[in-house]
Amino acid sequence: MKPIRRVGILTAGGDSPGLNAAIRAVGKSLLSTGIEVIGFRDGFQGLIDYQTVLLDKHALAGILTVGGTVLGTSRVKPHRVEIRGTVHNLTGAIVDNCARRGLDALVCIGGGGTHKNALHLVEQGLKVVTLPKTIDNDLAFTDATIGFDTALGIATEAVDRLHSTAHSHHRIVIAEIMGHRAGWLALGAGIAGGADVILIPEIPYDVRRVADAILRRCEHGTNFSIVAVAEGALSNADAPAIATLLRRRQQARSQAEKLKAKRELDKLYAAHEGNTLRLARRLEELTRLEARVTILGYVQRGGAPSAADRLLATRLGTACAQCVRRGVFGVMVAARGDTTRTVPIHKVAGSLKTVPPNHPWIQAARRVGTCLGN
Ligand code: F6P
Repeated sequence: MKPIRRVGILTAGGDSPGLNAAIRAVGKSLLSTGIEVIGFRDGFQGLIDYQTVLLDKHALAGILTVGGTVLGTSRVKPHRVEIRGTVHNLTGAIVDNCARRGLDALVCIGGGGTHKNALHLVEQGLKVVTLPKTIDNDLAFTDATIGFDTALGIATEAVDRLHSTAHSHHRIVIAEIMGHRAGWLALGAGIAGGADVILIPEIPYDVRRVADAILRRCEHGTNFSIVAVAEGALSNADAPAIATLLRRRQQARSQAEKLKAKRELDKLYAAHEGNTLRLARRLEELTRLEARVTILGYVQRGGAPSAADRLLATRLGTACAQCVRRGVFGVMVAARGDTTRTVPIHKVAGSLKTVPPNHPWIQAARRVGTCLGN
């Protein structure tokens, strides 16, 4: 095998706490064995433009505890770049350029989109290792993703804090929690924060059942309720149309069919923006209680990573450097219990990890009497 002398790192997709800890871990371990490390600016955009920064020991110092990513990020997809109205696949050109410039391998730190992008590069012959990062925790084949623990802590604290104001005003307070199309964050924060109702995309909800649960609390003398709702949660009136399109996209026989289903799906999801506000109005009508909405938004992604995320990023990042040194490429370094394992990127790309209906968190929530909307 050709010796590895120069390795690039990029961070892509939504930022999340722990990215810098991961950059530091990969960088420091590679530097310690004499490998030069460079960073690409703003995710795959930096790879397209070959915009780099040297990651020497000075650049890597003092970033362990810092939120966001020192490299910047973006959601650019190299296989679908629009130039003057035409869509181009730049993957081949990128791989040639990397070879010309003496880049021996690339580390991509990101979530679902990043893994799809990385797979295109792997298929064109680039040596890639990935690390799982997303506050949504929706990447398959890994126990944990970098950023989830911090976001979970922030969302839990928010749910905690909403209790006293809901209680004081005898209101329904709804906290909208991120998570894209998966319910891990809302479910985790809802359970940990003691929400009375938790609504997630995996369990379409019946608004009447939610109202009944709130009214039952009133009958028992508790005239406030906290609802933790995932941003992707759907009512059972909205869920079937989405499920049909998801199936169509999955069963599509051509790229064009797949794209068409994806576009329709995006449109449908866009139509559901504002769902949480509509839910609040409907619950007011059904319960005659006042309802308020708090959208936690980007607060969940901001600031310093938790100890657990720093630890996870350091574990995965150093294992990633080991893969590079040993010539193990085309893999994601995943968390598996106390250790790590490698999973082929082609398995990870496109496989979403949603909350299974019989997951222990769901069972625990039901056992403590939390309404899950169904
Ligand atoms: O994937 C992380 C995430 O924060 C999701 O929870 C959320 O739906 C999305 O990113 C928001 O994306 P953007 O940063 O592009 O607004």
